[in-house]
Amino acid sequence: MADKYEILQDLMRRRGFAWGSFEIYGGARGFYDYGPLGATIKKKIEQKIREAFQREGFFELETPDITPEKVFIASGHVEKFVDPLVECKKCGARFRADHLVEDALDIDTEGMSADNLTQLIRNHDIKCPECGGELSDVWYFNLMFETKIGPYGDQKGYLRPETAQGIFVNFRRLNSFARNKLPFGVFQIGKAYRNEISPRQGMLRLREFTQAEAEIFFNPKETEHPHFDEVKDEVLRLYPIENQLKNLGEIEITAEEAVKRGYIMNTFFAYYMAMVKRVLLDIGIPESAIRFRQQLPEERAHYSSDTWDVEIHSERFGWVECVGVAYRGDYDLSKHMKMSGADLTVLIHYDEPKIVKRLIVSLNMKRVGPKLKGDAKRINEKLKAMSQEELEKIVKSLNETGKAIIDGYELEKDDFIIKEVEEKITGEKILPHVLEPSFGIDRPFYLLLENSLVIEEDRTYLKLKKDMAPIEVAVLPLVAKEPLKSIAYDVFRKLQKAGFIAVYDEKDTIGRRYIRYDEIGTPYCVTIDNQTPEDGTVTIRDRDTREQMRVKIEELPEKLRELIFG
Ligand code: GAP
Repeated sequence: MADKYEILQDLMRRRGFAWGSFEIYGGARGFYDYGPLGATIKKKIEQKIREAFQREGFFELETPDITPEKVFIASGHVEKFVDPLVECKKCGARFRADHLVEDALDIDTEGMSADNLTQLIRNHDIKCPECGGELSDVWYFNLMFETKIGPYGDQKGYLRPETAQGIFVNFRRLNSFARNKLPFGVFQIGKAYRNEISPRQGMLRLREFTQAEAEIFFNPKETEHPHFDEVKDEVLRLYPIENQLKNLGEIEITAEEAVKRGYIMNTFFAYYMAMVKRVLLDIGIPESAIRFRQQLPEERAHYSSDTWDVEIHSERFGWVECVGVAYRGDYDLSKHMKMSGADLTVLIHYDEPKIVKRLIVSLNMKRVGPKLKGDAKRINEKLKAMSQEELEKIVKSLNETGKAIIDGYELEKDDFIIKEVEEKITGEKILPHVLEPSFGIDRPFYLLLENSLVIEEDRTYLKLKKDMAPIEVAVLPLVAKEPLKSIAYDVFRKLQKAGFIAVYDEKDTIGRRYIRYDEIGTPYCVTIDNQTPEDGTVTIRDRDTREQMRVKIEELPEKLRELIFG
């Protein structure tokens, strides 16, 4: 008998859920098409996430997939979004060099240069895993798809590897939309593109995929989430770094306790982890198939200082990362501020004005004029533009060593005029920090189907959460004869108009039709039988229990709404 994975793959293709793209041209790895039923489920997943973000008061944004190079130079993707590659000289197959070395030698290759990886491959005689051939030198390969913008191709661009950057580069406008009030969240649902090296796990590693990412901007001094009480008792299945390193396994712990014990950084982080779990449950992922694994430092993306992966269990692939909750700090905003020159700070108003001491440092022009010649004026301007921290450093150096060096000139204490003044300030500019829940859509889609697949002796069916079904109700005349056909068609139209995703089907025996709709996860079949013309009632058959109940046609929409959407 075929295994569950093969049964599901067959069902997905045959019944219109999803399949590899460009089939008639032999296919292209890393690309998937969603068929009519798959596309509907995918949109339902996106909608559940959208509604969850909207319930948090986040704003939705939509920005281009094609992005000028500058953005990804600033974000670090041009330099750091790379994987080391190696090619077999005999069969031409390409592999992740770090994975090959790690598998062969059981060592950590994090941060290793291409030369070092090449050396290890040579010294340990690591061969091509496919044909045993000799391997080439290692080189770093950027995962972004490059493109040219404009008819002369004079501007280089990339397809975005994450939707997040579209949010960061819009921060000034978004902050003004949020009226300069932290915290606030912005989300975007859209495509992301990565030229993955070996996309071999069906829908799990795609070159074009969908993400739903939220960036929550907050004041790093205020990390207590205002609504943490709502989730504090949520039990989370955690696999913290410490337990991974010591092989201690997972723990089940409330969000509150996890923060108290220091497993999770703060209530801000814990709040959004609990939120992600709720969304996955709402989509229909079973609780037993959800866990949070903290990324090891060497796994983290270049912008993150702590990340929890939300993993969903697959019978075929084990635990699969489906969502990441990352602490991005002020990494992105500070990089974009530096590259673009735009002011991306937020002015935080104090409740009460504060009195602060401020250093004013300038040159004693009479004294230094001859020494600095033409540079005195310029250096004075430079001192004026310096931050308080920079001025403090100069004063500290003068106090401790009697000297300070500016632009190559060695200056003494008497060369400066140093004043300390008191000032009343009503606020300060800060660069917000960012917490990011980042959902992939395609992986949860596949794992939802896998976790919903039930194989029984006489049928295979998708036990989807009822509101996630791509066809919510099938209307079936018991036999394809009048008056049952006309009544059934009228019922079908009535349900469509009431907003259900409904179908009308009269082909095959009723038993076969039931099995057909069970297979695609339709939670209810409505049957028009011989009793219907007599008393205006129909049966509703439940997919999971196969039990039937009779209801009046007038009551059908209300009843189905209650059964499907609760
Ligand atoms: N902005 C953060 C970010 O992009 P990520 O962990 O690289 O973080 C987030 O991606 C999610 O996007 C993953 O948890 C996964 O669900 C999805 N994802 C990433 N690469 C993918 C790929 N090649 N194919 C399918 N989904 C992918």
